[in-house]
Parts: sequence; C-alpha cells; structure tokens
Amino acid sequence: MTAPQSTNPAAAQQPTRILTGITTSGIPHLGNYVGAIRPAIASIANSTHDAYFFLADLHALIKCHDPDAVHASTKAIAATWLACGLDPERVVFYRQSDIAEIPELSWVLSCNCAKGLMNRAHAYKAAVDANLATPDTDPDFGISMGLFGYPVLMAADILMFNATHVPVGKDQIQHIEMARDIAGTFNFRYCAADKPLFVLPEALVDEDTPLLTGLDGRKMSKSYGNTIPLFGDNPQVDGERALKKAIMRIVTNSQLPEEPKNPDESTIFEIYKAFSTPAEQAAMRARFEQGIGWGEAKEALFDKINAEIAPFRQRYNALMANPKELEQILQQGADKARRESRKRMDKVRKAVGIKPLAKLK
Ligand code: TRP
Repeated sequence: MTAPQSTNPAAAQQPTRILTGITTSGIPHLGNYVGAIRPAIASIANSTHDAYFFLADLHALIKCHDPDAVHASTKAIAATWLACGLDPERVVFYRQSDIAEIPELSWVLSCNCAKGLMNRAHAYKAAVDANLATPDTDPDFGISMGLFGYPVLMAADILMFNATHVPVGKDQIQHIEMARDIAGTFNFRYCAADKPLFVLPEALVDEDTPLLTGLDGRKMSKSYGNTIPLFGDNPQVDGERALKKAIMRIVTNSQLPEEPKNPDESTIFEIYKAFSTPAEQAAMRARFEQGIGWGEAKEALFDKINAEIAPFRQRYNALMANPKELEQILQQGADKARRESRKRMDKVRKAVGIKPLAKLK
C-alpha cells in the first residue's frame, strides 16, 4: 500500500503522513490479521512516511458497554500489533484516550459540523432503517449520541495530527469524506486562505487485501461468531491448540477422502491462499483435485498458518503476561503524540476565540 500522489493541494504541500485507528472491541482474529494487521505493518515497513497508529478506545465505548471487555480488548489489540511486528520506535503508537486534546477537538469540530451531514452517515442511517422496519419502534431507538457523532470523533483523530492518508476499509470511506468536509468548514470559517489549520485527508483503500471466510462459510466476523482466533481468545488455553481446534471446526461438505474436490468452493483453500505463495497454492489445488481428505487439508492449513504466526505468539504471550511493558510502550507513544496535539489544540483554541484575557507574569 503506497501513498498515491495527492490531488489535494493542502495535502500536497504536506509530507505524507499515514494515520489509522483500531477500535478496541473484540479480540483479534485471523480475518483481522490478514485484512488489516499484516498489510498495515508491511506497508509501514516498506515506506519512510510518518505513521500514527492508535487504539480507538473512545470509539469502542460506542459499541461496547462492558468495561472488562473494553479493557481486555485494548490489552489484546496492543499486544497483537506489537507481537506482529509493529515497531513503536518507527510508528507513533498510542491510545486515543491518553490524548485529552482529541475529545476536546471533537467538541470544537462538532460545533462546526452540520447535523444534516451526520444524518447521512451510513452506520447511523442503517440503524434508523432497521428501527423503521420494526413495528412500534422509535426511529432512534438504541442510537446513542456517541454513535450519531462517531464521524466527528474520527475527524478529530485524523485532523489532530494532520494526517494526509488514512488506510481504511471500504466501509470507512464516507467517514474520511466527512473529515475532509469538516476540515474545510473549519479552515474556511477560522483561517486565512493561505494558512489553513487542517489538511484535508484522503482515504487509502487497499483493494488487494483478502476478506477471509469464517468457519461457517460466511465472511469471518465477530458478529457472526465464526472466527478463527489469531492467538487464542482465552489466556488459559494454549493458543496453538485453540487455533487447531478452530480450524478443525471449519464446515466442509460430506465428500469422502479420495473424491476430487473443488478448491474454489472450499473455505479451507480460501484461507490457505492468504498464507501461501502461488506455487504452494498450485500444489494444494492439485491435492484437492486428487481428492485430499478434509482432515488432511485442515492439517495442512493449520501447519501453514502456524508456521507464520507461531513466532509472533511467543511475543504475544510475553506481552500479555507483562502489562507493565505494554503500558510503558503506550505511554511513550502518548508522550510523542501529545507533543503535537497540544500545539495543534492551542492553535485551534485561539482560532475559535478561546484564549487568555491577558498575560499574567
Ligand atoms: N472507525 C474505524 C473503524 O472502525 C476506527 C477509527 C477510529 C479510525 N478513528 C479512526 C480509523 C481514525 C482511521 C482514522 O475501523
């Protein structure tokens, strides 16, 4: 994922800066690894751009009202990214809630964001539509102000650090457009034309990352309960065994060993592809056509995945057993991020008219 040449003049003057957030709800699964964690870490390793990665724990509160789950997810996600090779010296890696200026900026931005813009957000509209389809239900049933204002907080995350490029999934493109919209309104209202405070960010969508299928043949997703855990969901259970157990639960058809099988209709082969070279895929395809048994195919899949993630699992387990180290890494990241957020927030406050009445010595 390389940053494309910018077509946006405000971003063009700016060195490329990549920023992305990871909502701390849930424990990372194989789909997260293949679709987000692995490509993001590889793209950073292959570039020299500034990079900001953060744990979006304030966003997690929108979906999750279980304090233990939010806390456990924050820990597991931090440990996962670090274990998979995120280098906190190379990337500013921090927790959103450690940067008090972010919710502050979110408020200022929300005062400069039309409510109508938020009415058009897909996630909000989908929730309203679901209510409208339910008899005797208020259109806003179950919708919190946090959900409604979600894109504003996301805009604050991005604009706070003047990110130029934001790697996101397709479902988030609209939020980046909203951040541009909000930045434009703010710049127009409060800044001289040649001195905008905010850069208009661009979404970076990687079309190549595979969407993994889950155990039951639907898209792998926490909400379907069909995920394969990356390092294991339960610290009491050995991660390698949990991985194997999950793989053995992948639903297959009733074809017998030795019957030729269609790899393109198999979840096992689909996941195998995400972990193998084209030559290995061709060899596995041939084994399917020759009638590999499902049990054997699952063993091969397990070996392949495990070979890639076993080295990370050790580091993951070490970090999970030593939360002090994790906390220290996050605090160092927050220190770096705050040096910048404080400066930008000072400018924002001044721009909107919030400043001391006089200088006191
Ligand atoms: N909304 C994003 C998601 O659910 C997470 C997120 C929060 C984010 N703030 C962000 C992503 C800022 C990119 C930039 O995937």
